[in-house]
Amino acid sequence: MNILILGSGGREHALAWAVMQNPKCDKLIVAPGNAGIAMIAECASFDINDGAAVASFVEENAIDFVIIGPEAPLAAGVADDLRAAGVLTFGPSKAAAQLEASKSFTKDICDASGAPTAGYAHFTEAEAAKAYIREQGAPIVVKADGLAAGKGVIVAMDEATALDAIDDMFGGEFGAAGAEVVIEEFMEGEEASWFILCDGENVLPVGTAQDHKRVGDGDTGLNTGGMGAYSPAPVMTDAVIDKAMSEIIKPTVAEMAKRGMPYQGVLYAGFMIKDGQPRLVEYNCRFGDPECQVLMMRLGAQALDLMLATAEGTLDQARVNWADDHAMTVVMAANGYPGAYEKGSVIRGLDALPEDSKNMVFHAGTSEKDGQIVATGGRVLNVTARGDSLKDARDRAYAMINEIDWPEGFNRTDIGWRALS
Ligand code: AMP
Ligand code: GLY
Repeated sequence: MNILILGSGGREHALAWAVMQNPKCDKLIVAPGNAGIAMIAECASFDINDGAAVASFVEENAIDFVIIGPEAPLAAGVADDLRAAGVLTFGPSKAAAQLEASKSFTKDICDASGAPTAGYAHFTEAEAAKAYIREQGAPIVVKADGLAAGKGVIVAMDEATALDAIDDMFGGEFGAAGAEVVIEEFMEGEEASWFILCDGENVLPVGTAQDHKRVGDGDTGLNTGGMGAYSPAPVMTDAVIDKAMSEIIKPTVAEMAKRGMPYQGVLYAGFMIKDGQPRLVEYNCRFGDPECQVLMMRLGAQALDLMLATAEGTLDQARVNWADDHAMTVVMAANGYPGAYEKGSVIRGLDALPEDSKNMVFHAGTSEKDGQIVATGGRVLNVTARGDSLKDARDRAYAMINEIDWPEGFNRTDIGWRALS
C-alpha cells in the first residue's frame, strides 16, 4: 500500500523507519520530512495543517493510508477531512483531539469518568484566578488552557511565581492558548508515560516510557520538548498499569464514545505515580517526541499493522509481539537550545554509524546541503539504541554519540539515571 506520514521530527523519522520495514508498505511519502527521512522515503512539501491540501495530495498520489504525527494537524481537523474523503487515517478527530488541545476539556472528562487527577479550577479572568491562588497557596500549577507547544505550564513553587504566570497568560504571552487558564493542585511523585492505541472502542497498549524534560544533567535548567527517553519505564509496574487501565484509560475512552467523539489514534497518557497510585497529569493525542523513537525501536515493522488495526477498528483482534528488551534515545540539540541557537552547522560522522534494528540515529531538525547534513532546528538528532538491558541500550547510544562530530551541538550525559540507579 501507499502510505503518507505527516510531520518532520524525530518522531516521524522513527515512524517512517518502522513502517518501511513492513512488507505491506509499497511506497512511503513523508510531508514535509527532514534529511534523515529523505534517506529512506520520498519527501513532499505542502501545508500539512490544511485538510483540503492533504486530501488532494492523497488523491493525486493514490495514498491508501495516512499517519498523522504532530498535534497541530489533528487539532486543525485534518483527520476529519481525510475520513470525510474516505481515506483510511491514523489519528483522532478534531473533537477527540481536545484531550490535548484543551486542558479544561480533559479535566471535565476526568470529572465525568472519575479518573484520578489533580484537583483544579478553571478561570477566564485574571483577578479571580489570583484570588484562588492566594487562597490555595503554593506549590501550585498554572496552565494555559490551549496548545502552547509544551510551554504553557508553570509549576510554581511559590505564590509570586504563580501570580506572575497569571499576568503573563492573561497578558497574551501564550496567545489565544492563555485566554483561559486551569490552576491545579501540585502533585508529587514520579512521572511516566503510557501509549495506548484506541480504535474508538478497543484499546491496546504499545509501551511505557519516561522522558527527561529539563535541558541539563540531573534534571536541571529550562524545560524542553524532551532531551531523551527510554522504554519501558520501571515505575509502571504491572499493578500501576492495571490501575491506570481500569481507573483512567478505559473510563476516558468510554466517556469519549458516550459523548459522540470516539477516540481513534494513539492516546499518550502522562501519569504522576505515588505509592503505587497513578494520577493523570495530561493526555496528548499523538506519540511523544522523543518517546516515539524508543517505542518504534522496540516495535519495529509491526507498528504499521497496529496502526492499521487502529484505523480499521479491529484492535480487539490485534496483539503486540513484545521482546523482553529496552530502548533509549538521547537527543542532540543545538548549543543554546531551548533558547536562541544558530542554524546551519555541519554534522559529521553519521555515515560511519551502524543502522540496524538495534542502532539508529533518527533525525529531527536536519537538512541536506551540498551533500552534508546540517542542523536546522533546536532538537537535531535522536541517537537511539535497543538492548537486552537499559544499561546495554544506554552504553550503545552513548558510544554512537562519541562518534558524532558536531561541536555546535550538545546532549545530556545522564539519560535514564533514575531507572539505572
Ligand atoms: P503538562 O503539559 O500538563 O504535561 O505539564 C508539563 C509538566 O508539568 C508535566 O510533565 C509535569 O512535570 C508538570 N506538571 C503538570 N501538572 C502538574 C501537577 N498538577 N503537579 C505537578 N507537576 C505537574
Ligand atoms: N516528549 C514530550 C512530548 O512529546 O510531549
